[in-house]
Amino acid sequence: MLRSIFYSICIIIMISCHKTVSKADYQIVPLPNSITYTNKKPFVLNNETIITYPKSDTLLKKDAQFLAQYLRELVHLSLDIVPDVQSDNCIILSSSLKHQQKEAYELHVTSTNIIINGATQAGTFYGIQTFRKSLPHSLEAGDIVFPSVSIADSPRFGYRGMHLDVSRHFFPTKFVKEYIDILALHNINYFHWHLTDDQGWRIEIKKYPKLTEVGALRSETLVGHLLKDKPHTFDGTPHGGFYTQEDIKEIVKYAQDRYITIIPEIDIPGHTLSVLAAYPELGCTGENYQVATKWGVFDDVLCAGNDQTYTFLEDIFEEITELFPSNYIHIGGDECPKTKWKSCPKCQAKIKALQLVSDGVHSPETQLQGFIVQKVEQILKKKGREIIGWDEILEGGLISRDAIVMSWRGTEGGIAAAKQHNRAIMTPHHSLYFDYNQGEDITKEPLSIGEFLPVKKVYEYEPIANELTNEQSQYILGVQANLWTEYIKTPSHLEYMLLPRLAALSEVQWTDSSRKEYSSFLSRLSRLFSIYQKEGYNFAKHLYGISSEITPTTDQKGIQITLHTVGNGKIYYTTDGTPPSEQSNCYTTPIVMSSKGTVKAIAIHKDTLSEVFEYISIFNKATYKPVQLLVEPNPKYTFAGAKALVDIKKGSSSYIDGNWVGFSGRTGMEAIIDLGESKDISSVKTSTLCDIPNWIFPGSSIQIYGSENGKDYSLLAEKESKIVDEKTPIQPIPMEVSFVSKSMRYVKIILKGTIIPAWHEGKNTPALLFVDEIEVN
Ligand code: ACM
Ligand code: ZN
Repeated sequence: MLRSIFYSICIIIMISCHKTVSKADYQIVPLPNSITYTNKKPFVLNNETIITYPKSDTLLKKDAQFLAQYLRELVHLSLDIVPDVQSDNCIILSSSLKHQQKEAYELHVTSTNIIINGATQAGTFYGIQTFRKSLPHSLEAGDIVFPSVSIADSPRFGYRGMHLDVSRHFFPTKFVKEYIDILALHNINYFHWHLTDDQGWRIEIKKYPKLTEVGALRSETLVGHLLKDKPHTFDGTPHGGFYTQEDIKEIVKYAQDRYITIIPEIDIPGHTLSVLAAYPELGCTGENYQVATKWGVFDDVLCAGNDQTYTFLEDIFEEITELFPSNYIHIGGDECPKTKWKSCPKCQAKIKALQLVSDGVHSPETQLQGFIVQKVEQILKKKGREIIGWDEILEGGLISRDAIVMSWRGTEGGIAAAKQHNRAIMTPHHSLYFDYNQGEDITKEPLSIGEFLPVKKVYEYEPIANELTNEQSQYILGVQANLWTEYIKTPSHLEYMLLPRLAALSEVQWTDSSRKEYSSFLSRLSRLFSIYQKEGYNFAKHLYGISSEITPTTDQKGIQITLHTVGNGKIYYTTDGTPPSEQSNCYTTPIVMSSKGTVKAIAIHKDTLSEVFEYISIFNKATYKPVQLLVEPNPKYTFAGAKALVDIKKGSSSYIDGNWVGFSGRTGMEAIIDLGESKDISSVKTSTLCDIPNWIFPGSSIQIYGSENGKDYSLLAEKESKIVDEKTPIQPIPMEVSFVSKSMRYVKIILKGTIIPAWHEGKNTPALLFVDEIEVN
């Protein structure tokens, strides 16, 4: 202790009397798994420090060059790189760490040297990333003090992926390299490159030149949102672009240098209009195809009954495997309608020849898709590669033990795969689709596909579902986020969608869950922001505002409001409804409110004030009380389940925000809330969501029953709701009923669903019914 005080004093003296000195800080993102401060004399990095590595190790030489580059960029220090130096004042790179995880590293700082030792050169590279992120923010040149430390680190998951769709919008090679740089900064080791889709084929294939001559160019692009802006209009401007095989080789090498494996995705058999536009003979009808100019799922797909299709696939994957050394090749498999196969004589003949018959679960056409997937898997297996497919590949009923399932429609696909001992990668849209909005107020966000996915929700995603045993969990290879670009046309917009959600993802991927904590993450994140700034990356700034967490007090009679802002920002708040200012209470610990009340708060970052955050408590007689659901929610939309209905967090206009519970419109919702004791009640309020593009309609009626004994219920009130029309925006629709005050212990709420009206594509089927917060007063 004394010693550490002594060294601190030394540092202060150095700071006050000498040239500029700044201090490194190991509290970075993703948080290393073990940081031990050794309280010895620090290391002082100056322009005489040498970066050294064993001469024979060319990969470490490259690592050394990265390190030198980062120091130049971030703190304007140009250090010499000299192999095999054995002296003081060195950063010593090596790859001799004995560790079973090849990406593990240790970083030791002593007064004489900094040693970064990886289990492989990749591990050393991650140690260098940690070192880089520990550098001080300050732009001034000068000595940098590194507190003595021992960091021992290795990733939680071996698969840490990030995806990019370059079909919907093409991004040039230069930007793809920058994207790879961003992934490296976040310790990501797989880049899933979505190279083909209906709207454009983006990779040169020598044997099929028309794929890029025809398939890489669309005549124009939809203006506005596919579902919200009707009738559709188009921009009249052709959009195209592709990577030559030389570009691909250059990018693959660029990624390899950063220990990133590129997994190419050739999406088949659906999402192939760009193929059919180039080679119409590969479709079921063989004519009238064009590269898609709008988004969605199209009925025209590769013909599964045509032998040419299989030759095509064999040829394509021949060239793909020559270009990409990745052990994993992604074959898509998502969203493939079977409409054309049902009426195609060739497809039907194939079904007959293969003797595919419905088994009650899998239609012959679904099994035909399974057959294609199996064929491609065999093609790739011969080349020593393994396939990854979107979770639909589970549906064909034929996938082999070796196929890897990418769980995107939710977590169910990944869980089912792990349970049957297929490996899985978790990428559920509700937590990891970075094309969703980062801010709740969509009027302040760029045009997007919709929904609400804030950084916090990404951060809180846990890839190992509770229901998996330890043994089954081993089949979850890791985690990935996806970035689809229907609505993203520019690098700057793309970076905005990516950052800082990628930082949250990196901690999910790298850091042990026991070390994760959102407020700690936010305090560390501002250091990463300064790297974003220095590198010129455009990132979303919502975190400079305030986010909140509402939890019950231990007696459940009140609430605790935890407020967050990024970095060292200060939060000031009021609880009396007055506007907050720097003179208000400074936030240090969660605010406790007994029941009703209002919190208003602002965050201040270097003299910049955030917008006012306001929380009005809706604490009521049902809050935190037991809820029994008499109707099961739809398993895909259960989210937090019954307790979400009384947790005083209201659903936003995004059905995936975790506050809603989704039911079938056929069953509606029925719930009983036990108030714990008899209470006088005179109103019940709830909300159902209106999200017409997603087939979610508000409830059509509400009925409230009360009971004193939990057995005999009497009707207290009922009400029909207003009917929505095509123009009703996406929003929660409140439903409220009042009645003569009665003493009741149990309250039963019945919400009826809606049959989708004739003007909607889903006409005459039951809509989804999404319900949130039930307030009893
Ligand atoms: C997907 O989002 N269609 C995989
Ligand atoms: Zn066909």
